[in-house]
Amino acid sequence: MQLSKKIAEDIYYVGASDRRLALFENIYPIERGVSYNSYVIKDEKTVVLDTVDHSVSRQFLENVAHVLDGRSLDYLVVNHVEPDHCGVIEELSVRYPGMKIVGNDKTVKFLSQFFSFDVKARAHVVKEGDVLDCGRHKLAFVLAPMVHWPEVMVTFDTSSGILFSADAFGTFGALNGNLFADEYDFDREWLDDARRYYTNIVGKYGVQVLNLLKKASGLEISMICPLHGPIWRKDLGYFMDKYRTWASNEAESEGVLIVYSSIYGNTENAVTYLAMALADRGVRNIHMYDASKTDCSVLLSECFRYGKVVFAAPTYNLELFPKMETLLLDLKAHLWQNRDVALVECGTWALQSGRKMAEILHGCKGITVVNDAVTSILSHAKEDMKAQFDAIADALAK
Ligand code: FEO
Repeated sequence: MQLSKKIAEDIYYVGASDRRLALFENIYPIERGVSYNSYVIKDEKTVVLDTVDHSVSRQFLENVAHVLDGRSLDYLVVNHVEPDHCGVIEELSVRYPGMKIVGNDKTVKFLSQFFSFDVKARAHVVKEGDVLDCGRHKLAFVLAPMVHWPEVMVTFDTSSGILFSADAFGTFGALNGNLFADEYDFDREWLDDARRYYTNIVGKYGVQVLNLLKKASGLEISMICPLHGPIWRKDLGYFMDKYRTWASNEAESEGVLIVYSSIYGNTENAVTYLAMALADRGVRNIHMYDASKTDCSVLLSECFRYGKVVFAAPTYNLELFPKMETLLLDLKAHLWQNRDVALVECGTWALQSGRKMAEILHGCKGITVVNDAVTSILSHAKEDMKAQFDAIADALAK
């Protein structure tokens, strides 16, 4: 059955959720699934804003046909070409032969790379500030390059104040009947996944996200309709502030994050002492993760969340333990910066992991290592090392 829902005057949700997919982009675990959002405007002209992933195409096509109720489709606005939103464009073109594809130059270029049908023949090319007159609704296009791909744009309906924001303001997680963020306990149920989605997918492009936020601040926005996750119609400032914090590489939460790798428990023993020493100094909100047991996307998201981070890892094959190396390289690739860190290494002979961690983090801007020399554990930390960990705790507790 069709599962569309009216969300505003003339505007309908026609997307769907996938709870079967294990890995989004074949890399990020999504235990709570993911939604692929799409919207229809039914005015003098009919418009679909973005399509969905192949996995939910049947539901999407049924929803669109129901909302159009026999009318033809005039326009498909493509805010983002990534296949999780373009999976159904070719099918839509076949079903609605008169449909024009609205996008910018890069949209047309990328779609022509992905598809074999004649994209140019259907293209209605727009640029920054152009307006598509649909009748009661006028759609203005705002370019948002690199939020998350170069062709990305967002669409602002000047009559309703609705911003169709592409990947921006999205989150992992399937929609469970409720479409709006204010119908959930967002902080408890969604925020961790929203942060993980933001930091992993668009975290590298903080500057571009801040540019988009600056453009958005000049608009009277009544609702934000992203391509993933719930729609925002209340408390827009709350989520925009979160985005501003994440995009600015600012710490969101007080506390200390400890990420460690430990082969036989010796590194873990040492950082557990450090965690207790931090607690003794009144630090709250200490989070510890074993990098071998926690997905890298969670660790990266947590590193963006905290301002103070301890990395502790053994030497392995005369290199840095691989799980820790993966995380640090991922942080560097995402332009993670402006943090206080402490580095702890462990090994029985020829210790290398501290130097390797420092080398990778040297490539990140604004990283201050609070224990100037890496703290080294030879095989197992003895009582006489407590003073060194107490000194790290003093520095991080400041
Ligand atoms: Fe949801 Fe960049 O695609």
